[in-house]
Amino acid sequence: MIRRVAILISGAGSNMEALVRSMVRDHPARPVVVVSNTPDAAGLARADALGVPAACVDHRPFGADRAGFEAALDAALAPHRPDLIALAGFMRVLTPCFVDRHAGRILNIHPSLLPKYPGLHTHQRALDAGDTQAGCTVHEVTAALDAGPILGQGRVPVLPGDTVQTLAARVRDMEHRLYPAVLRRRCADMRRPLMLP
Ligand code: GRF
Repeated sequence: MIRRVAILISGAGSNMEALVRSMVRDHPARPVVVVSNTPDAAGLARADALGVPAACVDHRPFGADRAGFEAALDAALAPHRPDLIALAGFMRVLTPCFVDRHAGRILNIHPSLLPKYPGLHTHQRALDAGDTQAGCTVHEVTAALDAGPILGQGRVPVLPGDTVQTLAARVRDMEHRLYPAVLRRRCADMRRPLMLP
């Protein structure tokens, strides 16, 4: 059975593109829609260029009404009948209600070796701590922020002289390898975490 994958973005969409480009030929999944919560996300044009339906559900008119935003998000997703929802640089925290409605079917990529550095500014925190390794994690999304079951991790070295920018670029290259690989395993119901390299 071909899995239908929706991808949620907020920004450049480089992880989205890596996922979309991976879902070809004998891959057991296909991208069905890309949704951004911000209209100026560069990833929307990128999705369009890749031939994937792209939509925007702007969170701003909803203000503090998270349930209202998520109802609109569900309305945008529903016609595409996704089996999986891949968060790829999606910068909104989802409520427990949304997560429950899609329990076990939401994945996220986070730019740190969780459980280290949940939340924001992960690269700065790794540099400040003097870490010699950094990386990224794909995990299942649960109601607890960045704390769901780990499905895969990719490690990269922290090099002398690294800045947030150089480290982020190295981690992002790893994200583009890890996320497609984990998605493929998840579609094959392989639950054992993938560790790269
Ligand atoms: C990635 O580094 C991801 O880990 C983080 O936001 C960034 C998104 O980049 N959550 P992109 O939009 O996929 O290029």
